[in-house]
Amino acid sequence: MNRADPAPTDVPSAAGRAAAARSGPVDRSLRKQLLSWLVLPLGALLVSSALLSYSVALRSAKVAYDRALLDPALSLAEHVRTVDGRLVLDLPKAALDVLRVDSLDRIYFSVTGPGGELIAGQPEMPPPPSVVPDSHREFRYGTVSGENVRIAALFLPNAEGRVVIQVAETMVKRNRLAREILFGETLPDLLVVGVAMFLVWFGVGRSLAPLDRLRAEIAERSAVDLRPLDASYAPDEVRPLVAALNDLLRDLHDALDAQQRFTANAAHQLRTPLAGLRTQVELALRQPAPPALVHSLTQLRNATVRASHLANQLLALSRAEPGGHRPDALREVDLRTIAQDAAALWVPRALLKDLDLGFELSSATLIGDARLLRDLIDNLIENAIRYTPDGGQITVRTEIADEQAVLTVEDNGPGIAAAERERVFQRFYRTPGTEGDGSGLGLAIVHEIVNAHGASVSVGTGVDGGAGRPGTRIVVRFAAAGSAPAPAGNGAAVAAA
Ligand SMILES: Nc1ncnc2c1ncn2[C@@H]1O[C@H](COP(=O)(O)OP(=O)(O)OP(=O)(O)O)[C@@H](O)[C@H]1O
Ligand SMILES: [Mg+2]
Repeated sequence: MNRADPAPTDVPSAAGRAAAARSGPVDRSLRKQLLSWLVLPLGALLVSSALLSYSVALRSAKVAYDRALLDPALSLAEHVRTVDGRLVLDLPKAALDVLRVDSLDRIYFSVTGPGGELIAGQPEMPPPPSVVPDSHREFRYGTVSGENVRIAALFLPNAEGRVVIQVAETMVKRNRLAREILFGETLPDLLVVGVAMFLVWFGVGRSLAPLDRLRAEIAERSAVDLRPLDASYAPDEVRPLVAALNDLLRDLHDALDAQQRFTANAAHQLRTPLAGLRTQVELALRQPAPPALVHSLTQLRNATVRASHLANQLLALSRAEPGGHRPDALREVDLRTIAQDAAALWVPRALLKDLDLGFELSSATLIGDARLLRDLIDNLIENAIRYTPDGGQITVRTEIADEQAVLTVEDNGPGIAAAERERVFQRFYRTPGTEGDGSGLGLAIVHEIVNAHGASVSVGTGVDGGAGRPGTRIVVRFAAAGSAPAPAGNGAAVAAA
């Protein structure tokens, strides 16, 4: 008899909406901001301090090596003499060789006379500088035989004129020292920079963890979960924020409570005068009266019936809202019993429309509020009776399936178009073209009750019954008594069929 439901629509839950909000772009991360304020300046500071100490160490090493390079020049100076009016370097070759000994570098020297003539040394040495510095000594870089060298020049005033002694050495020692300073001092500094950055990154993450927890707690909540947030884990800086949020939640809770109480009171207050009005109109209708008056009185009675229905629906809605019912009224209840009670009310009404209202009831116990569950079943059956044309079929089923207590109400009426299946749960929404009276609150009440029980509801197509209409099937799934129930009222209620 039943057709498979091709594509039932799951009504989005508050948790689903929260998840959708979470997936939105987050372009202003506090962590990134803190890190860019901390890590970048800190990194720049450490890197420049490492570079500074590298250059200072290099400079000191250069001064020491330069001083050492000047020593052989000073030794040579002591041996420059004038012999027979000629400048000579009075030093045996063996002593010169000793001067030039170095385990790593090659050493060159030259002694030039006032005319720039070479008195002693290697001819490949560059000519001395033409300008004499005040200190009479000068250090510079140059090349000898294509090799980079450091050159020390010593200027000697002499009776014959100016004598310049130059000593040059290759750069092996100096380059090696520069590498040692770089790897021995600067790299450890850079390592410290890396470790510091990691510690900052890690520390910021740890410090922000309570905010993450707070965010997760808020994101998990439904719009109706207004319990105060747990401030115990929040650091001192965040506690005022949590306290302010809790104040807001309390105010919101009070405001919702007041609104819910107002709706309940107003609906309740309206019911008595409306019932009186209806009685009076029905009494008047029994009196002989001209047809025009009978017509007006009939209209008045219908309007009164509609207004009473609206008041009843408003009352049921406020009962279903959080705060409208007591969570401690949850008991172990059997859907079968509730559906059996409802049958007594609805079977006579179904008969008026020649509808085949069938009940296939198996025991299906759950922890719930019997009053609310009755409202839920009433609204689903009322819709099926109201919207299924005369002679149609309606089936109400209760059962346990996959550890869930499942209520199904299906009919072979006009069906609810796939595009409308979410909207029909909105308050006061009726699908365009719907005939007959109705306030558009029935499925909104169902939605609230589903939420209050942590259940799920889905809408699909119903029984065919040969009528050629799609029909409607509404399935509500509750955690069966004894299985792990979803927490009631957390908004994670309405999920997949
Ligand atoms: N079984 C059904 N078959 C066809 N359409 C339905 C069915 N149930 C609900 N609908 C559509 O969904 C709309 C919303 O239903 P809902 O019960 O919320 O409001 P209502 O029946 O119009 O008013 P109320 O129940 O408050 O008297 C209805 O107007 C109707 O168009
Ligand atoms: Mg309805």
